[in-house]
Amino acid sequence: MGAKVHEYRGKSIAVHYDAKRCIHAAECVHGLPGVFDPEAKPWVDPDAASADEIVAVVDKCPTGALWISNAEGEPGLQPAAENTVQIDADGPLYARGDIEVVDTDGNVLLRDTRIAFCRCGASENKPFCDGAHSKAGFSDTGAIPDPKLRQGDGSGKLKVVLANNGPLILTGPMTLTGGDDSCTGGRGALCRCGASENKPFCDGAHSRIGFSTS
Ligand code: SF4
Ligand code: FES
Repeated sequence: MGAKVHEYRGKSIAVHYDAKRCIHAAECVHGLPGVFDPEAKPWVDPDAASADEIVAVVDKCPTGALWISNAEGEPGLQPAAENTVQIDADGPLYARGDIEVVDTDGNVLLRDTRIAFCRCGASENKPFCDGAHSKAGFSDTGAIPDPKLRQGDGSGKLKVVLANNGPLILTGPMTLTGGDDSCTGGRGALCRCGASENKPFCDGAHSRIGFSTS
């Protein structure tokens, strides 16, 4: 999982920015234009607002491109109390909560509070969305068909296993929303190749199309 991380250190907090995970020209710039100014160099000034104001805006970044650490280098954002996965129409899966991304051997690749996962199959920064869905013409309403999520164990974390050349396998308590639908559960395999006819769930189409995550 490649990263292009920049750090902007202020008096009380540091703002970190992974340019490869930024797809969404809104929350930061609109939330605190004095701190996040794409025309300025550097574009982030962590001393232009209070730490609390910056934390509140960074928490709204839906992709996890922005995060915070304090003077001691400790993470500055708490996970949301509940894990949620929002299916964006024609776009990515926005996960929020206490998220752990692991490979099929169980190695933890990332812990985060917000992640935008590619579900069109076209991102060049998988498993993250890089905005490629627009160019790829990805089309899906985000509606959730029946049957919905399966029940699973009730532990607090949302674990996301990156199946090789296959889906995202989610376990842990979560609410999945998309279109006018919403459901809760503890287990689901979500398509990330873009070809399932049962989106957002995997239907095995990744094998048929020769989907590659490498
Ligand atoms: S809120 Fe996050 S994803 Fe959106 S523009 Fe700012 S850094 Fe990028
Ligand atoms: S990942 Fe798309 S059908 Fe399995």
